Order: sequence, then structure tokens, then C-alpha cells
Amino acid sequence: MILVTGGAGFIGANFIHTWFKHSDEPVINLDKLTYAGNLANLTAFREDPRHFFVRGDIGDREQVAALLAQHQPRAIVHFAAESHVDRSIFGPGAFIQTNVVGTFNLLEITRDYWSRLPETASESPNKQDFRFLHVSTDEVYGTLKPEDHPFRETNPHQPNSPYAASKAASDHLVRAWHHTYGLPVLTTNCSNNYGPYQFPEKLIPLVIHNALAGKPLPIYGDGMQVRDWLHVEDHCLAIMRVLEAGRTGETYNIGGWNEKPNLDVVRTICAVLDRERPRPDGRDYVEQMTFVQDRPGHDRRYAIDAGKIERELGWRPEETFESGIVKTARWYLDHAAWVADVTSGAYRQWVEQQYGTHGE
Ligand code: NAD
Ligand code: DAU
Repeated sequence: MILVTGGAGFIGANFIHTWFKHSDEPVINLDKLTYAGNLANLTAFREDPRHFFVRGDIGDREQVAALLAQHQPRAIVHFAAESHVDRSIFGPGAFIQTNVVGTFNLLEITRDYWSRLPETASESPNKQDFRFLHVSTDEVYGTLKPEDHPFRETNPHQPNSPYAASKAASDHLVRAWHHTYGLPVLTTNCSNNYGPYQFPEKLIPLVIHNALAGKPLPIYGDGMQVRDWLHVEDHCLAIMRVLEAGRTGETYNIGGWNEKPNLDVVRTICAVLDRERPRPDGRDYVEQMTFVQDRPGHDRRYAIDAGKIERELGWRPEETFESGIVKTARWYLDHAAWVADVTSGAYRQWVEQQYGTHGE
């Protein structure tokens, strides 16, 4: 049994899909169901006895402690976070609350649970084999100049956005809980993910959604900011590998060796849609590209040196951007109802009827 936090979000839900492709070990999924968490991402497991969904907040100590005591997981994979940089600029409070205070709470409850586990490796779960895997981002390293080497694990943390600062703070807490209390932690810092079930506020699903809706495709600033894109399933496989064989106390960078300026990404998506779902008026989707005011403090370039995880754990990404982006565009074309569902007021109403407002 493992506990996943934030398993109804984009990467967490993909992780659960990937996990059950490779394992029958049950998963408890603790998720607050914020705007970004959607059970529509997990309909495949609605009746599946291997998946236990619990609506809750990682900041709720009593609830988390009770879950750990009841289910006795051998590991925690911590995805839950506020994840969107633009939202962090306009409302940083929720980012501090969940990413920093929430992670602190989770660490404290986990430490208490872990300290009571048996020492003996023959029992499961046990103190020695327990793992707390913290899922983090490359944004903690700040921004790169064109001539800089991609981020290595040894780069200093220099976060620039409130989101990045909150994730850097959580990385430091996780590190400290290992050094001070001996909690067996692992941290992964990954680049930009894309793929199915991504809420249509992030660049790739937003561009697909707006293109099909005939809306502008907003390009921040000059569109020459560079990101390293990784298909989400590759990220999930990397996390499984780190959980299985990573060295406790270590951090592992995860990336696709796949740097692209935003303009290239948007043009590629437009070209794919031109082929797969031509505009009714026969014109090209790129005509919808619209340059808009830049994001404040916008980081110019991220890139990952994924050499450590490749050397130590033998992980490499399997999907290329070229094939991954076609698959992803097709997924959104085939799941228009999902997009309508997760962005609709009706879904939020259903969540509230089902679970109450949960302090929101
Ligand atoms: P997401 O916003 O799609 O999902 C976050 C999930 O966490 C949602 O299901 C939400 O309901 C849940 N959540 C939020 N606050 C919570 C709380 N207080 N208690 C319990 N659940 C809560 O995010 P994502 O893109 O899936 O990212 C998952 C993790 O991966 C985050 O920690 C993020 O920092 C990290 N990450 C994301 C990317 C990326 O490209 N999306 C890249 C690297 C790292
Ligand atoms: O690098 C990993 C990070 O990637 C994760 O930690 C974050 O959770 C995730 O949101 C992502 O952050 P970015 O800010 O890079 O992702 P976003 O999709 O918001 O933007 C990607 C790039 O596209 C960025 O340079 C901003 C730009 N952009 C974004 C949007 C939404 C646009 O030009 N127009 C847009 O409308």
C-alpha cells in the first residue's frame, strides 16, 4: 500500500494510471479536489478495489494521521500542490499554505508515523524501507542564460516566482527532515510536463482548447522563453524508478533533453491541429497566435541535465516531443467532454454536493 497526495491532479492521476499498469499494489489517494483536482481523471478506477480515494487536505493533521494509522502505507508520494505560476503571481497565499505549510504538516505526521514503525525488515511496512518521495520542479533553480549548462542537482536554489519559492521552501523542509530526523526521503525536480488530463490553464492544453474554440492563443512577451518538455508518462515512470531504487536523502533531476522556445511549441500544436482537425474556414490555426503582455518575472530558460538519474537508475525518457505532442493533441480532440467537464461549474457543484465545501 502506498499513499499518493494530489492524485486527482494532472501528474498524480497519470501516476495512478501508470502505477496500475505495472503493479497491483493498492493506492490511497488523498486529494483536496481544488479546481485542479478532478475525479474525471480517474473514472477508470471508480470501481477498482486497488484505488481508495479520500477527499482531504494535507494540512489537516488529524485526517492525515488517521489515514496513515488505518492504511499503514510503506511509502508516500507527495504531488499535492498549487502548481500554476500565473495564479501564484496573483494570489500567492494558497501556494504558501499548501506547498509550504501543507508539506510541513505532512512531514510532521509522517515522521510520527515512521518513528513508530517496526525496525525489522521482515515486517512491512518497516522503518528502514519506508520512503517519502517529494515531487518537485526545476523552477526551484531559477533561470538559465543561453550559454549555461542545464540544471544539475548541485545548482543552488534561486526561485523567482512565488510558486517556485514555495516549492523551493518545501524542498528545503524535506531535506531538513532527512538530515535532522533521519526520515528516508527522496526528492525529484522535473521539467515541464505535458499529456492527458492537464488542466487547460497550462500552455499546451490551453493552446489546444483555445485553438479549437476559435479564441486567441496568448504568447507571453516575445515567445522565446525556453522550457524542457517531458511527456507525463515518462515523468511517472521516473518517479516509480526513484521510489524503487533511489538513494535516500538524494535529489534526482528529471527532464526530456528537449528544450523548445514557446513559439515553436505553439506553432507545432497549430500544425498538428491543421492536419487532425482543420479549421472550418480552411485557414491556419497560427493566425490565432496573439502576443500579449509578458508574465511578471518570467524565467527565460529552463533545461535539465538528467544525467544522474540515467547513470544511477537507468531511466531515460521514451517519448519524443514530436510523437508525444501528436498523441496529446489527439487525446484532447477525443476528450472534448473531459475539458468541458473539468472547466464547468456543474463539476464544482457536484464536488460540493458530494463532499461539502471543505473549508473553501
Ligand atoms: P495540479 O495542479 O494538476 O494538481 C495538484 C493536485 O493537488 C490537485 O488534484 C489538487 O486538488 C491537489 N491539492 C492541492 N492542494 C491540496 C491540499 N492542500 N491537500 C491535498 N490535495 C491538494 O498539479 P500537477 O501539474 O499535477 O503537479 C503535481 C506536482 O508536480 C506538484 O507538486 C508540482 O509542483 C509538481 N511538478 C509539476 C510539473 C508540471 O509541469 N505540471 C513539473 C514538475 C513538477
Ligand atoms: O518547469 C516545471 C513547471 O512547469 C512546473 O513546476 C509548473 O507546475 C508548471 O505549471 C510549469 O510551469 P510554466 O510556467 O513553465 O508552465 P506554463 O504552462 O504556465 O507556461 C509554459 C510557458 O509558456 C511559460 O514560458 C509561459 C508561457 N505561456 C503560458 C501560458 C499559460 C504563454 O506564453 N502563454 C500562456 O497562455
